[in-house]
Amino acid sequence: MRVWRKHGLGNMALNVKELLERRLPAEIVGVLKEAGEEANETGSEAYLVGGVVRDLFLGRGNVDLDVVVEGDAIGLAKRLAERYKVRLVSHSRFGTAKLRFATFSLDIATARTETYSHPGALPAVKPGTIVDDLKRRDFSINAMAVCLMPGRFGGLFDPLGGKEDMDNGLVRVLHDRSFVDDATRILRGIRYEQRLGFRFEENTERLLRRDVKMLHTISGDRLRHELERTLEEEEPERALRRADELGVLQELYLALKGDGWLAKVYRRARRGGRKPLASLYLCLLCYQLSEQEAAGLLEHLNFPARARRAVLDTVRLKKEVNKLASADIKPSAVYELLHTYDNVAIEANLLAGGSPLAKRHLQLYLSKLRYVRTLLDGVDLAALGIAVGPAIGEALNALRAARLDGEVKTRRDEVEFIRSRFLSQD
Ligand code: CTP
Repeated sequence: MRVWRKHGLGNMALNVKELLERRLPAEIVGVLKEAGEEANETGSEAYLVGGVVRDLFLGRGNVDLDVVVEGDAIGLAKRLAERYKVRLVSHSRFGTAKLRFATFSLDIATARTETYSHPGALPAVKPGTIVDDLKRRDFSINAMAVCLMPGRFGGLFDPLGGKEDMDNGLVRVLHDRSFVDDATRILRGIRYEQRLGFRFEENTERLLRRDVKMLHTISGDRLRHELERTLEEEEPERALRRADELGVLQELYLALKGDGWLAKVYRRARRGGRKPLASLYLCLLCYQLSEQEAAGLLEHLNFPARARRAVLDTVRLKKEVNKLASADIKPSAVYELLHTYDNVAIEANLLAGGSPLAKRHLQLYLSKLRYVRTLLDGVDLAALGIAVGPAIGEALNALRAARLDGEVKTRRDEVEFIRSRFLSQD
């Protein structure tokens, strides 16, 4: 009862053991109990913390488990890894470890305090108590702990009022410098608000508006990571619209807009019930930018090559796509125009704009033309007598065009086509 005595009861009266057993798979509950028992044997205290506790109350599935230990976190992780024969990756410098089970992962960390030497710095870390560890967190709804210790298993430890904020649907920071210390919390908070249908508590929203400019203290890589996580949401347009309204999107990159148009194309991207790739959402977010603006954003947030290509192709294709707005353009010409573009960029253009005719051709390319293959390959062409080298590529391209336009159907047609076009008949 160390913690309860030291820090007051918080919400200990509430026991969530039954909730845990109802909402989490039995295997996970078993591992959590074992973690408590193992910790007990070495005089440590173990708690389940963070997003999984929040989601427990909301009935949302979450299998990214975080356990905080007052004591030896890595020792506990090692014992659990041995007991369950699972892979362990540990970072002794940070006192953290990750266990990978088949269907879930378990992060185990030493309870710690954090201090920020300057705004946006990565925090300096020192071992601390569970209360220190909860206090260092972003929002009260992410700062609740469930005790895993034998005899107290399931006791909610909530010294910062997270449960009450959950009940009132509020996203609340834990102190007035929270966004100054770590401005990524601005984007995190918006995500929680919009994902959970919550709203910022009044003072939190005031602080957020005050501190929006602190986003400039965050590196491009960290900002990109937050944007990527936002684009992984079920309905990213909600967070993007809110970020626009709060001036956050503009702080990320001036030309970005989270407007009604974006919401419309994002909804269109989800038609048919599938979850679009985050890269498609990114291309749509950038669709309205000029090529120069898009290049600036990619640079600013240090996007990797794959995403750069998709985004730049999106805005470049936007300028070309009207060439496809003709009824008598041949399939081979559609292929010729589109085959060098990234497929995600083509999909973004299909969703975002263009005339009905151009769209029909984009659709035709994505659903059919891009898969068209000739029956003969380079080896066949060489056997027929085409000189090995660039001539083979040229002949294959011509053959593919003929197939796209329906001029050849069978293997024999292809052989005939090559003979008549590329080989002298004598
Ligand atoms: N956390 C924090 N400040 C941050 C990042 C993380 O306080 N800048 C804390 C929060 O308590 C959070 C926990 O670390 O709940 C785990 O972080 P993460 O996995 O990013 O958050 P989740 O709450 O699991 O969020 P999500 O549901 O979006 O995955």
